[in-house]
Amino acid sequence: MSPKVFVDGVEVEADARDNLIEAARRIGVAIPYFCYHPRLSVAGQCRMCLVETSDAPGRLVPGCQVRVKEGLKITTNSPAVKENQRGCMEFHLINHPVDCAICDQSGECKLQDYYMEYDHQPSRIRTYKLNKPKREVFGPVVVYDAERCIMCTRCVRFMDEIAREPQLAVVQRGSHSLISTFPGQPLDSKYSGNTVDICPVGALLNRDFRFQSRVWFVDKSPTICTGCSNGCNVYAESRGDRVYRLLPRRNEEVNQVWMCDEGRVTYHATNEKRIETGDLQKAVELIRPVVGQSGIGIAVSAQCTNEEAATAFLLGAQIGADRYFLGGNPPGDRDDFLIRGDKNPNTRGVQLAAQAFGVKLEEASALAGVKALIAFRTDGLPIEKLRPLEIFVAIAQNEDAATALAHALLPCQSVYEQECSLINWYGRLQRTWAAVPARRGEVAPGWAWASSLLGALGFTNGPRSAAEAFDALAQRSPDLAGLEFSGIPEDGLVLQSQMPKEWPARAPRPQPGAPSIHAPQPKMPRPDMPVRDEASGGSR
Ligand code: SF4
Ligand code: SF4
Ligand code: FES
Repeated sequence: MSPKVFVDGVEVEADARDNLIEAARRIGVAIPYFCYHPRLSVAGQCRMCLVETSDAPGRLVPGCQVRVKEGLKITTNSPAVKENQRGCMEFHLINHPVDCAICDQSGECKLQDYYMEYDHQPSRIRTYKLNKPKREVFGPVVVYDAERCIMCTRCVRFMDEIAREPQLAVVQRGSHSLISTFPGQPLDSKYSGNTVDICPVGALLNRDFRFQSRVWFVDKSPTICTGCSNGCNVYAESRGDRVYRLLPRRNEEVNQVWMCDEGRVTYHATNEKRIETGDLQKAVELIRPVVGQSGIGIAVSAQCTNEEAATAFLLGAQIGADRYFLGGNPPGDRDDFLIRGDKNPNTRGVQLAAQAFGVKLEEASALAGVKALIAFRTDGLPIEKLRPLEIFVAIAQNEDAATALAHALLPCQSVYEQECSLINWYGRLQRTWAAVPARRGEVAPGWAWASSLLGALGFTNGPRSAAEAFDALAQRSPDLAGLEFSGIPEDGLVLQSQMPKEWPARAPRPQPGAPSIHAPQPKMPRPDMPVRDEASGGSR
């Protein structure tokens, strides 16, 4: 039974597992907090969340620690509560350097926001501030500034409880306390970047993003990480034609609110070494004479979107391709949580598309005996086997050894730049929205180049949008029957027939009753992007 509580006199139907912070949040009342995080154990460390309750009149109790119970009256705005909040802020700021002007957390910092809301008075401290270590490199991803740290211990608890690699600890005592790695051991967990996300202040920073952009200059858009087949839901933050960082986006069945460090840097391929111009006419001139002849191959990387794969097979069918190859990044490390060994975001989607078009995929390494090859993305193509090709047309995103050998290049958008869909390792169909506002050179989605090739070669059935490219696939695949591109929900849906029997022990997964392809799918508009508490990086 859901307990009813009263928050500042307003009745709230709470969940029995709610603490007072969560109960108040249900009606939009914000109880401030630093150390509480909905995914971590309760530390009761910062004292910012103290409120009054009918159970303990005249005393303040921590809203993070106390659970709701039937009839409990919670007061979040009494003079005693307000005075505690102001006092807490004053204490937290005693030794804080207030170097917001050069701090990357500025603009998304709880200390900054709470100062404005709960303190907002000049400092009364007339002594020197305590100096502590600054810019201490904790590991490959994270750098620590002890002066900014408010000792909330979120980072320590994350490493213990979620990453399950206890690599951080509190050392020293009192106001000399610090967060530290263990002697001689770096913070090198593959999930270390999450500590930066959940650090409520600028004490932990991501070395990759540090000093790159003010957070208010970037736009946040929902997309899917392309680092492995888990397909973690992320936000890409971008300005112009550059992506600045990826942050986890909440999806309980895929990545909860976390992501791995390797995934965080996948955006670099959107910014660097791009192929920006192409020669469609040359590609057409090369392909036209061999249409209908034997020896035409189509290579599709597992980095391709469903729409790119579908259009690649459509092109292959029209021009009479007789060999098809699956490319992609080679396998890598894996674990029992988020990181999958397949380092491609859409192996399942490309395989499903091949099945739908009745095409047999060979490994890219089997590439031999082909005269003309059209490659949709070049990852994993065997370079030595490309050299003898008479015709090699590549629709490619980044310059690499394969594109150096191409006779004609067409510049391809990255997943972060386009609307598309992908299928993760367990059959979850997920979509992306164009996260980068400015177009770079002549880049276009792979499906658009395939469509242009089809048109220029005299075929009229090329798709004109991502939705049409998806339709071309959905019409041929029983797994996608009845689905529309615009009907893919924001958090994806599970293709039941694709679900595995075995799951890695801690891998997030769909619960019984999760949406399946057979359920009617309402049309979904592009979602707005509320910055929710523990999603979008989690520090809020
Ligand atoms: S480094 Fe950040 S998350 Fe860790 S204790 Fe300090 S303020 Fe909290
Ligand atoms: S686990 Fe895979 S999908 Fe998730 S962030 Fe890492 S690389 Fe990306
Ligand atoms: S949030 Fe309750 S003590 Fe920190």
